[in-house]
Amino acid sequence: MEKTLVTGFRPTGKLHIGHLVGVVDELVRLQDNYKCFIEIADYHAMTDRLDYSGFLDNTYEIVKDFLVSGIDPENSIVFIQSEVKEHSELNTILSMTTPLSILERNPTVKERVRNLEIKNISYGFLGYPVLQAADILIYKGEKVPVGEDQLPHLEVTRYIAKRFNGIFGYTFPEPEPVLSDYPNLPGIDGRKMSKSYNNYILPTESKEEIKSKVIKMFTDPKRPFRSDVGHPEDCPVFYYHKVFNKNKEDIERVKRCCKDASLGCVEDKEYLAKLLYEYYIPYNEKRRECTTDFISDVLNEGVRNAREITKRNIEEIKGKIGISRKRSAY
Ligand code: TRP
Repeated sequence: MEKTLVTGFRPTGKLHIGHLVGVVDELVRLQDNYKCFIEIADYHAMTDRLDYSGFLDNTYEIVKDFLVSGIDPENSIVFIQSEVKEHSELNTILSMTTPLSILERNPTVKERVRNLEIKNISYGFLGYPVLQAADILIYKGEKVPVGEDQLPHLEVTRYIAKRFNGIFGYTFPEPEPVLSDYPNLPGIDGRKMSKSYNNYILPTESKEEIKSKVIKMFTDPKRPFRSDVGHPEDCPVFYYHKVFNKNKEDIERVKRCCKDASLGCVEDKEYLAKLLYEYYIPYNEKRRECTTDFISDVLNEGVRNAREITKRNIEEIKGKIGISRKRSAY
């Protein structure tokens, strides 16, 4: 039987090209081998703010990116977390079995408190990993594709699953992380591409916007002068060539000309900007063809399919803990 994979995206902004090549393309590959549940985690997105006005627009944009990238709604179940109510029910149940100390020592929470990014941590923010555990366990998820930063959350999920099984009898598999083979795409400043670092490129940006960003990109630090030879393997711009340049021979040419200093960094960046823009031309054409109605249909169908499973599982769980009137049915 196919294993169950669960993943979530908070609708706090649009997806940048780092998400697309690192996470979404990986999901497209995984969907052939797993039963995939892909959630728009709107409740998670609420945990650190009080303005939710952009969430729905962001949700539609993100789902559009999924579909255009090749997530197949016949195969993967795409839905909005708040519309599948059993996630919240399981969150309530699991919040009773989760010791507070586990949440208080969560590294993400500690880091945020230290940085004072948010002045008053809410009850919901502290419960973030419990809600994430509910998202995964409600489907009896076995695999969770995650970035390094999510590993502590997944540890909490495994702890919660183990503890529940210990108290009420085996119910949940302990889900395992799937780390992507694709290293992170660097942002224009060389750090990990991220909304919060403001170093990202969107697939929908114009030729001029892409050019002005790519021109600012960091290159090989060991090549301060145009006449110095370059070290392409240490250069983020060359990394982009490997991802976005579809012509293998041309990648080799760029490598060679960087190494013998016949190609300068500025010239190379102008060339990369053009390649990057062209890479996303067919993508943007497909994006324009993807209608709001189609996205709504996908989400409606996704919620229906998800709930078929979650309604059954929540009854089983309530039965296990002894609060389901349908308990005799199990
Ligand atoms: N915490 C995840 C993130 O910030 C989002 C998320 C919510 C998630 N629910 C999930 C990821 C379930 C994996 C599985 O990206």
